[in-house]
Amino acid sequence: MSTSEAATSGAAQQGAARVTGGEIVCEDVVRIYAADGIEVQALQGLNLHVEAGDLVAIVGASGSGKSTLLTILSGLDTPTAGKASVAGVDLLTLRGRRRVSYQRHTVGFVWQQTSRNLLPYLTAHENIALPMALAGREKPGAISARADALLEMLGVGHCRDRRPAAMSGGEQQRTAIAVAVANSPQVLLADEPTGELDEATSAEVLEMMRTVNAETGVTVLIVTHDPTVSEHVRRTVQIRDGRTSTEVLRRRETDEHGTERHIAEEFAVLDRVGRMQLPQEFVGALDLKDRVRLTLEPDHAAVWRDARQDQPGTGGAGEPSEEEQER
Ligand SMILES: Nc1ncnc2c1ncn2[C@@H]1O[C@H](COP(=O)(O)OP(=O)(O)OP(=O)(O)O)[C@@H](O)[C@H]1O
Ligand SMILES: [Mg+2]
Repeated sequence: MSTSEAATSGAAQQGAARVTGGEIVCEDVVRIYAADGIEVQALQGLNLHVEAGDLVAIVGASGSGKSTLLTILSGLDTPTAGKASVAGVDLLTLRGRRRVSYQRHTVGFVWQQTSRNLLPYLTAHENIALPMALAGREKPGAISARADALLEMLGVGHCRDRRPAAMSGGEQQRTAIAVAVANSPQVLLADEPTGELDEATSAEVLEMMRTVNAETGVTVLIVTHDPTVSEHVRRTVQIRDGRTSTEVLRRRETDEHGTERHIAEEFAVLDRVGRMQLPQEFVGALDLKDRVRLTLEPDHAAVWRDARQDQPGTGGAGEPSEEEQER
């Protein structure tokens, strides 16, 4: 173990007791916003299951529903329908004091805007100590020691007595992660934590998310536009039109020469009742629309273009197929 690794795990043992039970379950989650008489279906039956202790990235186009999902998981918003629970807490019925307690102890949050994560008139150390003091579970000496340990774990010990204005964007986000995990939440949620950072600093912050996940066991869900994120996490989930559509899983494989390679495989997400979304490029390449023909083969299923669309006068929606006409 290198000196820095030893320092990191030492800090983690001192500062962050391992947490357990951060499972995230979303089943058919719907969120409809009504604004000026117009309804927007931000989430349209989203399914997601994240095991306790996992580190998962959420990617997707602007407006696909990523922030809506994180706001629900953080307890700031409630789904219109469906099931959503974090660490066994039902988010549809969460109200009042239980909601405050959930936000204070069960989840931690890092926002994109560096300025939203830290109080500008407090030092890094004071920012981290504040949520612990509010929770009122530990004595001031223990709180201060834990704040120092978290600063070390996130590599920002040198920023201890600085206010956010005297720190770089990356240092502020690392401190923000420390604030978010100060009360040992079971789940850490981050919405575009690297959105305001350059490429190199983004990679450092993502690496810190991984460190926190590995050192404390906190379940981590990161929303990001960063195309390189899948290099940092084992599982990347893509959201399209308010649903989880595809997942990329990374694994390590050792070939016959003993060389270790990283393999990334993309999967379509199948929901409980067997629905899935075809990737946009498949739909475009085969000009699929309205209906497709499905065939079951011994070891796979095939999707075929509806051939009648090519025949003049027979391509209209609702026309019966040849088989149907014969019946
Ligand atoms: N408070 C709101 N009222 C009405 N519509 C909303 C509200 N918040 C989000 N929406 C709409 O819901 C959809 C999903 O928004 P969301 O913010 O979750 O997207 P996103 O994936 O986070 O996008 P981005 O990558 O741009 O942050 C969008 O069409 C958005 O306009
Ligand atoms: Mg967003």
